[in-house]
Parts: sequence; structure tokens; C-alpha cells
Amino acid sequence: MLPTHLPRPELFTTGAGEPALRWGLIGPGWIAGEFVGAVHRHTRQRFTAASSRSLERAAAFAAEHGIDHALDDHRALVGHPDVDVVYVATPQSEHLELGLLAIAAGKHVLIEKPLALTATEAQQLVDAGQAAGVLVMEAMWSRYLPQTSIVRQLLADGVLGAVEAVHADHGQAIPADYSHRLYRPELGGGALLDLGIYPIQFDSMVLGAPTDVIATGGMTATGVDAYATLALRHGGSVQSTLTTSMLTRTPTRAAIAGSDARLEFDSFFYTPSSFRVLANDPNAPISGPELIFTDNTGRRLFDALSWEATALARFVGEGRIESPLHTLDETVSILATIDTARAQLRAQEQAQTMSDLGSEA
Ligand SMILES: NC(=O)c1ccc[n+]([C@@H]2O[C@H](COP(=O)([O-])OP(=O)(O)OC[C@H]3O[C@@H](n4cnc5c(N)ncnc54)[C@H](OP(=O)(O)O)[C@@H]3O)[C@@H](O)[C@H]2O)c1
Repeated sequence: MLPTHLPRPELFTTGAGEPALRWGLIGPGWIAGEFVGAVHRHTRQRFTAASSRSLERAAAFAAEHGIDHALDDHRALVGHPDVDVVYVATPQSEHLELGLLAIAAGKHVLIEKPLALTATEAQQLVDAGQAAGVLVMEAMWSRYLPQTSIVRQLLADGVLGAVEAVHADHGQAIPADYSHRLYRPELGGGALLDLGIYPIQFDSMVLGAPTDVIATGGMTATGVDAYATLALRHGGSVQSTLTTSMLTRTPTRAAIAGSDARLEFDSFFYTPSSFRVLANDPNAPISGPELIFTDNTGRRLFDALSWEATALARFVGEGRIESPLHTLDETVSILATIDTARAQLRAQEQAQTMSDLGSEA
């Protein structure tokens, strides 16, 4: 039996006692523009400084977003007296070094996903943050969306029964431009770290860390993973199928299948979207009773990045050094799953190369 109503979403509403922090930004690229715009439109958080490898780019970004200080020195940005929290929005290859720089300056730090290139690197950030007593958070914005708070509540209330399976997917058609960061190994390119992290973190939120990871997929000509399918086991009969691709736009839906009911997200599941909860009614196997959620907050697409900024400020106000909704242990564990999958894909690629060489000889 489904409940009569879905729970109300828990919102990271601005002005609920969270401190108004002063933010500094490193890496004024695409997502930085989306994030800063959303934060300034929807929260009481304010960016006071921006740093780029080029003063000209920093100045242009600062002028566009009403930011006081434009710098071409990341060390000066993290040490700036008008900065409480540093937002790192560079390619993932730079996340470890810049995150450590911010932590060493005693600043809280929000680092774009993925937190780092590997679980080992991520653990270095975690250890440094804990030693310094500052908050370290991966910008996994899906965790702070209204819809995600309802999913958490439904799982906690056992509405789906015992979860038996998770399916999730995220694929984007990234143009085959080998100068794009996703194609470049030296910038931490590849589908898994950039796109696959969304289905993997969704699975982790529902089921925790997997006991077994089996990955199959393929690489780009530049040597990064282009697409992958992950079959995960979580002990007992519980399984997950997670897919990603940077070669084509795939459905980008997600589903949780429980013994009593299932939850099915519409595309794009990791952005503000909608989902339905359907009872597993044996008398109505195709269409039974259902409950529907649609995000009506008005914060569409990347405007919803603003929820995570208010969440961070609230956590800082509460004296936390990690997000309770996406702990650092979990962040490291998600990267460990990605490490395993990437290693399997590399091994498959090598085996294929050896086999090709063998047949040529
Ligand atoms: N939350 C989300 O929805 C979302 C969406 C997209 C991307 N992301 C994440 O955000 C990060 C940035 O992605 P993006 O798409 O915004 O990238 P982007 O447009 O290429 O911007 C990255 C910026 O980082 C700076 N940078 C510093 N070191 C660099 C280097 N070695 N090579 C290239 N640029 C460097 C560049 O600014 P200067 O040259 O001016 O220093 C560049 O503008 C990635 O980690 C990605 O996974 C998150």
C-alpha cells in the first residue's frame, strides 16, 4: 500500500539562519558562470573574488557577475581576507592541488565533482580538511535538490519495501573535439569521472558501497573511457546497472525497484525533474496506484545549483566539516567504485590491443 501523499520536500531555503558567506572562485569557466549566477539570484551568499590563470579572464568574469576582486593568483585568492569559502571549478586534474591550497589557507572549500581523480587523492583532501577543521564538500548538487530529500524520506520510511535493484544512466553527446577537456587524459577526462559519477552517486545514496563491481565499455582514441556499463552487487540479491557515455545522449533516467513499490525518475534525474512511485500491485502489474512528484520550486536546471550553496552555508553555520547528506567517506567510496571501473576498462583495452597485435603477427 502506498501512502496517500508524498512527504513534503525539505528545502535549503535561503534566510533560514545560515551565515552569509563570502566566496572566492577558482576557474571562471562554464559551470562557474552557471553557479555564480544561480547563487547570486537565489541566495544570500556572495562571491567577492575570482581567480583565473589570466587576469583578463578573471576581470571579465568579475565584471559580468559583480565580483569585487579579480586575481590571476590562486594563492592570493585563497588567502584573501574577503574570502570565507573557496569554490574550485577547474577541470578535475587541478582539484587536489587547489583544494589543498584552500584548506592550507584555513578556508572552507566546495570542489566541483569529482572531488578528485581517485579515491586516494580524495582521501588526501579529506584528511587535510579534517586536520584543518574546515568544511570540505564535493559539489554534488543533486544531493541538495528538493526531490532528493523526498527520495531519502521514502527510503527511510520503507515505502518501497526492500530495495532489490537500482538502474541509473547519464550520457551526453560531447562533440568529438579532442581539445575538449572530457577527451583529455591530462585533465582527468572520460565519461565515468564526469558523467558516470551521477548514476554512481545515486546508487550509492540508495544502497551504499557495492560489494562487487564489474565494468565493461570502451575508450576514446585519446585514451579516456568513452562509455561504460557497470553491473554492481550489493550483497544478497541486490543489484544495480549503471551506464554512462560521452558519445551520445542517453535517457538519463533513474529507478529504484523495491519489493513493495518502485520509484522512477524522469530525465534528467540528477537535475530538478519529476518522479513517480508505483505500487507493485500483482493485480495490476503494468499500472497500479501511483504518486507523482514534480519540482515546482521554479528553480529549473542550473538555477538549482543554488540549493547546494545554501546547504554549504547552513553546514558551516552548524560547525560541520562535511555534508551530512554526502559524507566524505561516501565521496571517497564513490571514487573507489570509479577507480575499479576505470581499471577494468583499461585492462580490457590492453587485452584487446595485445589480441590485435597477436592476430597481426
Ligand atoms: N555541477 C555540474 O553540473 C557540473 C557541470 C559541468 C562541469 N562540472 C565540473 O566543473 C569542473 C569544470 O568544468 P567546466 O565544464 O566548467 O570546465 P571549463 O568550462 O573548461 O572551465 C574550467 C576552467 O578552469 C580553469 N582551469 C584551470 N586549470 C585549467 C587547466 N589545466 N586546463 C583548463 N582549464 C583550467 C580555466 O579557467 P582559466 O583558464 O581562466 O584559469 C577554465 O575556464 C569540472 O570538474 C566538471 O566536472 C560540474
